[in-house]
Amino acid sequence: SKTLEYLILSRTGSTNPRSVALVQLNRPKALNALCDPLMAELNVVLKELDADPDVKAIVLTGSEKAFAAGADIKEMQAFSYDQVINRNFIANWADIAKIRKPVIAAVNGFALGGGCELAMTCDIIYAGENAKFAQPEIKLGTIAGAGGTQRLTRVVGKSKSMEMNLTGDFVGAKEAEQAGLVSKVFPVDKTLDEALKLADKIAQMSLPVIILAKEAVNKAYETTLTTGLDFERRSFHSTFGLADRTEGMTAFVNKRVAKFEDK
Ligand code: CAA
Repeated sequence: SKTLEYLILSRTGSTNPRSVALVQLNRPKALNALCDPLMAELNVVLKELDADPDVKAIVLTGSEKAFAAGADIKEMQAFSYDQVINRNFIANWADIAKIRKPVIAAVNGFALGGGCELAMTCDIIYAGENAKFAQPEIKLGTIAGAGGTQRLTRVVGKSKSMEMNLTGDFVGAKEAEQAGLVSKVFPVDKTLDEALKLADKIAQMSLPVIILAKEAVNKAYETTLTTGLDFERRSFHSTFGLADRTEGMTAFVNKRVAKFEDK
């Protein structure tokens, strides 16, 4: 594993031991508050992993106490309007949504404000029983700035999103699962293992097909149903240009396990 200023990186994977990348937020003194240099480092690392042909899935996690307690309030405290608008503060957070490989958030403890938004920018959220999601910006006299009013509303609907954005109240793991924010809940000490297992399961699939599937699901959030269905069908058609599509169907017909080669 490799330790950077704010992140710890490692690799795992059952078939290819470099196919699953683990990125751990490591700023324990501030409960992984997402200061500007941390987000810059995270963006660089995720871009590198996206470009690495060995990597097929990425797991993003924090500590057992905190996934991330939000944007860094101490950093933001003195900012003025001209400072935030002139540098388009936190616009770079959107870069994470451009990562083409699946990113799984393994969330234990606090996922607050920007922490909840960061988790929602990932593709799948696995949560520990102690997970607490919230958009508490309103208690700081501000509002969510990186998807808390947008991604959250698309995922959990208006009423719960309004409740969260207008009160800042914590939503626990079970409630988050019921609301569709989280796909599964685990005992705290199992969350990361389960996320890595999920990533490893995805990593057994064909990389170009993984990328097409992620892109198609994300289209559902960006467009009309007809346009999305057209996009999906065209992407489906495009898989017929892949050797891995031939292999997958041939393996099924011949009752053997498919062996994908990412082409
Ligand atoms: N920014 C900066 N520092 C933070 C932080 C944050 N978001 N969250 C926690 N910390 C720091 C605390 O200041 C404290 O540092 P010191 O030891 O130097 O005092 C340390 O982390 C430990 O925190 P606490 O002592 O507060 O720990 P706790 O267990 O009593 O409480 C908590 C934990 C409930 C998460 C509490 O820290 C908290 O409420 N944090 C802020 C949560 C929040 O409001 N997040 C939203 C930020 S705004 C945002 O994210 C904007 C956006 O949409 C992009």
